[in-house]
Amino acid sequence: MCGIVAYIGPKDATAFLLEGLQRLEYRGYDSAGVAVAAKGGLKVCKVKGRVADLAAAVPARFKGTTGIGHTRWATHGVPSDANAHPHTDVAERIAVVHNGIIENADQLRALLAADGVVFTSETDTEVLAHLVAAHSGEGVELEDAVRGALGQVVGTYGIAVLDSQQPDRIVVARNGSPIVLGLGEKEMFVASDVAALVRYTRQVVHLEDGELATVRADGFRTFTEDARTVTRQPSTVDWEVASYDTAGYQHYLLKEIHEQPAAVERTLSGRLDERFATAHLGGLNLDARELREIRRVKILGCGSAYYAGEMGAQLIEELARIPAHSEPASEFRYRNPVIEADTLYVAVSQSGETYDTLAAVQEIKRKGGRVLGVVNTVGSAIARECDGGIYLHAGPEISVASTKAFTSTVIAFALLALHFGRIHDLSPADGRRIVAGLKALPDQIREILEQEKEIAELAAAYADNAGMMFIGRTRGYPVAREGAQKLKEISYVHAEAYPASELKHGPLALISPELPTVALVPDDELLDKNLTTLGEIKARSGRILAVAHRTPEAKLIDHCLLVPKSEPELDPLLLNIPLQLLAYYAAVALGRDVDKPRNLAKSVTVE
Ligand code: F6R
Repeated sequence: MCGIVAYIGPKDATAFLLEGLQRLEYRGYDSAGVAVAAKGGLKVCKVKGRVADLAAAVPARFKGTTGIGHTRWATHGVPSDANAHPHTDVAERIAVVHNGIIENADQLRALLAADGVVFTSETDTEVLAHLVAAHSGEGVELEDAVRGALGQVVGTYGIAVLDSQQPDRIVVARNGSPIVLGLGEKEMFVASDVAALVRYTRQVVHLEDGELATVRADGFRTFTEDARTVTRQPSTVDWEVASYDTAGYQHYLLKEIHEQPAAVERTLSGRLDERFATAHLGGLNLDARELREIRRVKILGCGSAYYAGEMGAQLIEELARIPAHSEPASEFRYRNPVIEADTLYVAVSQSGETYDTLAAVQEIKRKGGRVLGVVNTVGSAIARECDGGIYLHAGPEISVASTKAFTSTVIAFALLALHFGRIHDLSPADGRRIVAGLKALPDQIREILEQEKEIAELAAAYADNAGMMFIGRTRGYPVAREGAQKLKEISYVHAEAYPASELKHGPLALISPELPTVALVPDDELLDKNLTTLGEIKARSGRILAVAHRTPEAKLIDHCLLVPKSEPELDPLLLNIPLQLLAYYAAVALGRDVDKPRNLAKSVTVE
């Protein structure tokens, strides 16, 4: 959420800043800005709108070799030129870009205003610029001024600070919002996400919370808020540069949908044990004896991560026969949850940065609970906070709407459930059945993706409605929820998900030809019940698009998308794939900005 970039070196900073911001635009895209140090002063350009609008607004003579940039997702104040970052002090000496939230901004504003500071924006960030300026006395090093300012601040931040009078450095700091340094040849890069850096360097240093760094063209120094130097060794970014491009697809989202077979293969890689019909999960940090003592599993995540957790809970209950439940982390953290010693808590997050999920993990740990992470981003805040976990290895997910990380999360839960199950009472035969089912999934996903053209046509036909109903029973219900979520977030078509069994208890009143239903109709023990529900919808003139293993009778449906059959426990994962394409093509048909849906941003790092 929000993106930061910075450059210091021999070259013109603006080119890198603009390109880097474009790479980070998925994290926030309502306004953008850059600042460079030039001839003892600052040049600042910022606009409401996209990075392309900023690039068009930057004057030709906007030159400087030290600069910072930002792309914003508004928290304090509407998207506007004035509220865009960088923010500067009154004398326009200091410029600051910031991700996160300054919680005591109102008090600090009042203090600064009493000292005569006139604010030019509604943001919390502007406070930081004035505070750094207030600490920047004669001969004071920028890093000391920044430390002084941060000493007054309560909140979360990733920041980059530029001082026009000390243009040989940029000072950055991290507390709850990532900052990565990129090491070049006599030049240094900074970003809130490696996506902005990989074209320039693969050598990176991740700052830890509570750390600052002074970044100069020829290197960097990391230190703590109380000025103790800390040593950080660079690491090499694993992913290829191509992983951060659209690779010829019209959108990242479509590319990521198509990457799912490979992502699933990576999530499974090296983890299936055919001999003992189980899964090996090296990072759990729990031995078989400890796992046997677990009586319940509580899964926590937000949005699609929460829905993937619902599928995970079903897998754990079915395969391991351990009660399991998924809850939105954003709710859990506020309800003073009871933490039980024999419950295993599992935090799910693609980004590993979602603030609500991180706060839930911290709440559990504070109360002595044990938390596993199911996380895509290696070394992220949630991954670091957990006691152990499973990395997805799905690869970078750039589109705001989650698809491949969702699928890989469900795979990770299937592995966990298999592992748990085989420690408990899951038979070797059932273990083998699940191992074989998992191995077949990548090809089955490919088979579904081959129906893309047909799904695109159906999506265009169904997109032109005020809303859509998604229904599924038991295993199918989380699929319905995720299908509805995907449709509403990228196409803005209202979508409601209901357990099929609940329809007659109220929402059947909504059914009409104008509100079509997407019905999940797997060939399982509840098939007859689902067919009855289709009949009830049809009797009320509802239109039905079934996603099924076998085409139901023509009188029960209008259209059907067929999905290959897996093992019943794994079927939800495959049933979800056509719904991703349905949402994607509905959004395309409606002319939506698929990768950057309105009002949203990737990685929700605020409360
Ligand atoms: C939906 C979507 C969001 C995220 C949610 C959690 O497509 O992307 O609902 O799933 O914000 O994000 P992570 O998984 O990064 O914690």
